[in-house]
This record gives sequence, structure tokens and C-alpha cells, in this order.
Amino acid sequence: TGLQREVGALLGDYLARKQTNRESFPHLPFSRSSSTDSFANDEGLFEQQDPQTPTSTVMEKILKRRSLQLRNQQQAWEESPEGQRMLEFRRSLPAYKEKQALLEAISRNQVVVVSGETGCGKTTQLPQYILESEIDAARGATCSIICTQPRRISAMAVSERVAAERGEKLGESVGYKVRLEGIKGRDTRLLFCTTGILLRRLLIDRNLKGVTHVIVDEIHERGMNEDFLLIVLKELLPRRPELRLVLMSATLNAELFSSYFHGAPMIHIPGFTYPVRSNFLENVLEITGHRLTPYNQIDDYGQEKSWKMQKQALRKRKSQIASAVEDALETADFREYGSRTRDSLSCWNPDSIGFNLIEAVLCHICRKERPGAILVFMTGWDDINSLKDQLLANPFLGDPSKVLLLACHGSMASSEQRLIFDKPEDGVRKIVLATNMAETSITINDVVFVVDCGKAKETSYDALNNTPCLLPTWISKASARQRRGRAGRVQPGECYHLYPRCVYDAFTDYQLPELLRTPLQSLCLQIKSLRLGSISDFLSRALQSPEPLSIQNAIEYLKVIGALDDKEELTVLGRYLSMLPVEPKLGKMLIYGAIFNCLDPILTVVAGLSVRDPFLTPFDKRDLADSAKSQFSCRDYSDHLALVRAYEGWKDAEREHSGYEYCWKNFLSAQTLKAIDSLRKQFIFLLKDTGLVDENFSTCNKWSRDENLIRAVICAGLYPGICSVVNKEKSIALKTMEDGQVMLYSNSVNGREARIPYPWLVFNEKVKVNSVFLRDSTAVSDTVLLLFGGNITQGGLDGHLKMLGGYLEFFMRPDLASTYLGLKRELDELLHNK
Ligand code: CDP
Ligand code: MG
Repeated sequence: TGLQREVGALLGDYLARKQTNRESFPHLPFSRSSSTDSFANDEGLFEQQDPQTPTSTVMEKILKRRSLQLRNQQQAWEESPEGQRMLEFRRSLPAYKEKQALLEAISRNQVVVVSGETGCGKTTQLPQYILESEIDAARGATCSIICTQPRRISAMAVSERVAAERGEKLGESVGYKVRLEGIKGRDTRLLFCTTGILLRRLLIDRNLKGVTHVIVDEIHERGMNEDFLLIVLKELLPRRPELRLVLMSATLNAELFSSYFHGAPMIHIPGFTYPVRSNFLENVLEITGHRLTPYNQIDDYGQEKSWKMQKQALRKRKSQIASAVEDALETADFREYGSRTRDSLSCWNPDSIGFNLIEAVLCHICRKERPGAILVFMTGWDDINSLKDQLLANPFLGDPSKVLLLACHGSMASSEQRLIFDKPEDGVRKIVLATNMAETSITINDVVFVVDCGKAKETSYDALNNTPCLLPTWISKASARQRRGRAGRVQPGECYHLYPRCVYDAFTDYQLPELLRTPLQSLCLQIKSLRLGSISDFLSRALQSPEPLSIQNAIEYLKVIGALDDKEELTVLGRYLSMLPVEPKLGKMLIYGAIFNCLDPILTVVAGLSVRDPFLTPFDKRDLADSAKSQFSCRDYSDHLALVRAYEGWKDAEREHSGYEYCWKNFLSAQTLKAIDSLRKQFIFLLKDTGLVDENFSTCNKWSRDENLIRAVICAGLYPGICSVVNKEKSIALKTMEDGQVMLYSNSVNGREARIPYPWLVFNEKVKVNSVFLRDSTAVSDTVLLLFGGNITQGGLDGHLKMLGGYLEFFMRPDLASTYLGLKRELDELLHNK
């Protein structure tokens, strides 16, 4: 009904019209400010007095008085018995000895690089030193310190700790802000936030007006956001000569950062940790009563120059080692520890690490070793959950009166997080299963034993095939050292590396920076929306720049989905995408869902894709779980629609207080569904604020029951993630343009079908394991692909047809071109008659 010219022009107009409703574009989503904590006005959290501009004398007086108040408050706390005790603890940290040197260096230099062992007090102390010295200098009310953390959980945990050390509640002088959540008050002067939040602030405030100190923490991790932030800050510093930048790193590779900032001074905090004994697999097996059969010496990997060659050689070597170890473990038998024997040889399978070995080591520690918490490093959320299930089935480890078993990973709820830091009751052993996030940014005080599986799930990116891979890979020497160090915090510790010494020797010194191993689409969008000029030029100024091919792929992708135009400038769609804190494809889905008035199901799909799959597939009940999932599919050949139904069913069950049973019965994760639920709410705020959904929410669900339209919107988001479907006699052949033959994961509802009566599948993600696998998929028709696949907002229908041409030819479907022209004619007529 709303068609005016072409579908494409309609969309462009629509967005443009929405845009003119607000004054100037970049302030659009953040134009409101109030003191609540919703995401919609989170950027309001940063609003504050600008100390640079001359203020009226009244204002000055108020600020001065406030600064004095803050000083008195601080003194009162420090004199109280509780405060005294806290102060004593803080003074015992290694960072305290360097306090004066640090503050002096910061006042004299615009950039300072600080390094020091994990736990020496960088994150909790240094920002406080700055805050205290500002308060002492009566600038307490005007300073504004931002400290970035790579992960939300550390931003939250650290701010809470710092507030406690200052005898305050969160939201007084200390606050935090992470995506979709935050606590900050009017007087907050020290804000812990994720790196992403600071980048979003730069979007609306290029000069970080009013900010006096920026502290970038954990730079040694070389995360993509951190590397990106450093380029932006490096260019910002000359414009803000009074702004101070402190970079903090847990390892001693400070020179790299120092030279990037023209030889900025480095300060090292000498640490104290208790000695930690390392047990490599050889010893571990001896301890657990097994013998490691000798494995063949593995050849040295050479001195190849290019990193690509090195990577290849390393990969080869790693697989040699893996098979050697597998041979060795074949004789190991873990049955006496209560493990299922079934996967006892899967120790070095790339997808799982030796659960039984871990179980055996944990039993050993619990039974024979001194008291102290155990920290186990796993590869990811899935592994942690499966291991937890296995351990709970163990008669000893599963006994809650003896063992407190906890998980620790990035996406868990805050209430659960807190448990990790608490001391268990006497006689109860705390075991924390964690991802590599517990390496540096989280400190669990009472850890005495560390079990290190030697792997971490790392995204890597195959630029040649334009395929992201997510595989558990061996960690670096630096990570292994960090992991080991976690055992020596309170007393001498013990580390069990579940790999032989020779594997350790083959580790690289440091991990490859994320910027060099992930797709760059979101980043490129951000570069454009921050108006940082040409994408390639900008990225060439990074600490280590990504390969030109990766950059080209990302730009190409953004053009295909219609976020960038031919001149590489942001389109209207691109601008909206850059404001939504989700991947471009998910953002596009949200926008289309709002425009085509089928928002509700799309909110669920997008939330599901950005949290994780709520469908569980327990190791030993895979079949039951898969058939439970396929019930939700109702033969509509879509994992995404199955998710929508599962979520809606859960909502209904929740209303009758039977949500938990519903999940249990259907192999769904209640926790994930709750996360999806809350993310949906945040998306609504976000869309309302960008002006894409009207305040009273009136029309945006008019077509929410129209399954074909939902399919079309999913297709709009996921394109060009398409594969063709050819039904053969006994099987289905799936093909994408880049990879040729591809497969479906077995838990996809389409993976269980004998026939798919649609010519195309759109998919969210493909992962290269051995073959290329597609994760969730939705079947779509020719018409849907023709009208919604690609860049219809830009070139109109003709341009779109040209774009699709390559696909049509490749998949031998030239007939679609005429279908397409027919459709166009029909539309034209329709419009004409209207
Ligand atoms: O950042 P860095 O690794 O250098 O250390 P930190 O996070 O500032 O922690 C310094 C010390 O504070 C740790 O050694 C812990 O003893 C203590 N801490 C704590 O008790 N509770 C927390 N949530 C965080 C730190
Ligand atoms: Mg730290």
C-alpha cells in the first residue's frame, strides 16, 4: 500500500524523511538526555561541565565548593576504621610504590605506557591515584577520567571494586558503562567503560570535550577496538594538548606502544607473585597415575620470513604435535575417576579438549592437594557448559557440600559473576571454569591451582575465501605465562598445563592482533561514521595494518548491502547502521523490520543472533534435542522462524509460571531466552531513539504475522549470505558462490530435511571447520531474493538487477532476470494506477 515509486526509492525516501525530522544527523540517537540508565540515552551519561570554557563565577564557586566537599568526604573515609583497613590493603599492592612516579610522569607527558604483572594494581589503583590527586588539587569536581576495558564483565567488576575501596556505592564518584547497561551519577568522575562505548562517544564528540584523562587498559591483548581506538586517539591528542592518555599492559611489550606514540615514557611496576610450579602433560599424567608413551620428536619449524609462511608452518607443526599427543594418550585410561570412557581420546580433537583429563586432574587436586580455589581455562562457553555437565555427574565433584562449581564467561548475568569472587564455606573447594578472559582482566583472589587446556577460541579470517573461522587454537607463550601466574596470587601455586613441554615451546610469543584476523565490516562503518577519511588510509596508520585484501572485502561487502555508495561514502542506510550497536547485517534487519512493520519477530531473530542460540544440544541427547527443535519449525524451513516460535512459546509459558519446565522439555536455555528478552527491549529503545519506530509503537507490528514478509526481511539482512538449493534424488546439494559445496550443521532444521522446496537458503554465518558449514538458515523464494537481496536502496531496480547478474549466471538461473523484469513491470503498473 505504501509503494510510491520503486520499492528502492521508497526505502530511500523513507529513511531520508525520518532523518530530516531531527536537526543535525550525528546527534540523532542521542538527542535526549536524562539521568536514567537506559541505553537510549546512555550517551547522556557523558554530559558534563566543560572545564575549558569560561564559566560564570557562580558556577565556578559551586564547582570549587563541590571539590572541597569531595576532599572532605575522602578524608573522612580514610580515617574510618573500615577505610583504614582498605587503605592498608591498597598500600600493600606493588603499584603503590610507584604512585608518585606514575603521577609525575602523567603530569609531565601527554602519553604514558604502564606495564606490570596482573594483580599489581594497575586497573584498580592507577585510575584512583589520578582521581585522588585531582581531588587533592581541588579539581575533583571538574576532572573526568575514562578507563576502558575490553570486556563488559571486567568494566562492571572493576568499578564495583573501586567504589568499595573508596567506601562508596557505584554511581557516586565511580561508575561504569557497558553496552545496554550502566550506573553513573551526576558526580561520577571516574568511569569504567568498554572500549566500544568510548568509540561510540567519539562518534558524537570527536574531541572528547570535558574529558581530562583517558586510560586504555589491557592493550597487550591487541583487541580490534583497542587498536582502532589508539589510531583515533593518536590523531586526537594534538587537538587536545591538555588531555592525558595512559596505556596499560600486563606484559612487557611496552616498547611497541611507546614507539607508536613517538617514544612515550614507559613505567614498569615490578610485581610480586608467589612462585608457581609448572606441570606439563608429562608430569600431569604421572600425577594422575598414567604414563605418557614416548612421542616422536617433532621437527623444528623454520625461520620463514613472511608471517603467512610462518603461520602455515606453525599450523603444520601444531597438527603434528596434536597427533603425537593423541597417540600418547591412547594408553591413558581415566575410568577410575568416574569419566565416561567414550570421549577419552577426544583430548586433542580440535573441537573439544580433554574433558576426562581435566576431570581426572580436578579429582586429584580435590582429594590430595592443599586447600585453595581452582581456575580452569577452557576455550568457550559451549565447552564450559559441557564440562560443567560432565563434572556435575561425577560423584565427588558433583557433590555441592564438597565442591562449588562455577562458570565464568563474558555473557553471563551479573548476579552469577559475583559468586566467582566470593570465598566458599570452609571445607568447600571452589572450582571456576573460565575462558581466557580470566587471564588478565579478572582477578580471583583465592586461586592456588590453575588447569590450562592450552587453547582459546580465536576468530581468524581467511581473506582469500572471505570466510571467518572460529576455531580453538593454541594460545601464545604470553597467554600461557599469564594463565600460570593466576595461581600464585596468595601463596605458592601449582599449574597443570594439559599439553607437553614441546607444545609450549612451539607457541608463538604473542597472539596475532585481532585487527589482522577478523572481518572488518563494522570497523569500516565506524571509520566512515566518525568521518576519519578514506578507510584504507586510516587503517594504514594502525599499529599493524590489516591486509589490503581484508579491507577491500569489507568495503565490497558494505557496498553490496547498501551501506556505502560507489564513492565509499556512507549512505543513509549506512548512517543508521553505524548507530546501531550490532553487526551491519543485524542492523539492516532491524531497520527493515521497522520499515516493513513486522518488527516483533525480527527483534527476536536479531536478539537471538546477537546473543547465542537458545537451542541446546547436550552431548548425549543430541537426537532428542534436534527433534525438539524441529517441532518449532512447522515445516517452514527456517531456523530463524523456529527461534521466533520457541521464544513466543516461552513467553506464554512464563506468563503461566512454567517457563522453566517449558525450557527443560524443549531443550532450550532459559538463561539465553532471558538474555534475548532483555536485548529485545533495548533494541526497541534504540529504534525509538533513532526515529525508526514511533513513540506509541502503533504500526510497526501490523504485519508481524506475515511469515513471508518476515522471511523477506531476514533475507534483506543476511544477503549476500545466500546459497542455492538443488534437490537431488537422495540428498540436497547446497552451493555458495565462494565456497562451492557447503553443508548444514546438524542442528539446523534444514539439516534434517530430505527436500527443501525453495531454491535458496539465506544464512547467518558460515564457518570453516574442515568443510564449510552454514549455521542458521532460512529458505526463501526467487521473488524474495529478487526484491530483498542486496542493494535495492541505491541503484534502484536496474542497478539491483546488474548486481544480481553475477549470481544468476553463476547459479545458472538466467530465467530470474525475466522474472525480475516482470515483477518490475507489475510494480510500475500498480504504482501508476495508484
Ligand atoms: O590491573 P591489575 O591486574 O594490575 O590488578 P587489579 O585488577 O588492579 O587488582 C589489584 C588487586 O586488587 C588484586 O591483586 C586483588 O588482590 C585486588 N582485587 C580484589 O580484591 N577484588 C577485585 N574485584 C579486583 C581486585
Ligand atoms: Mg587489570
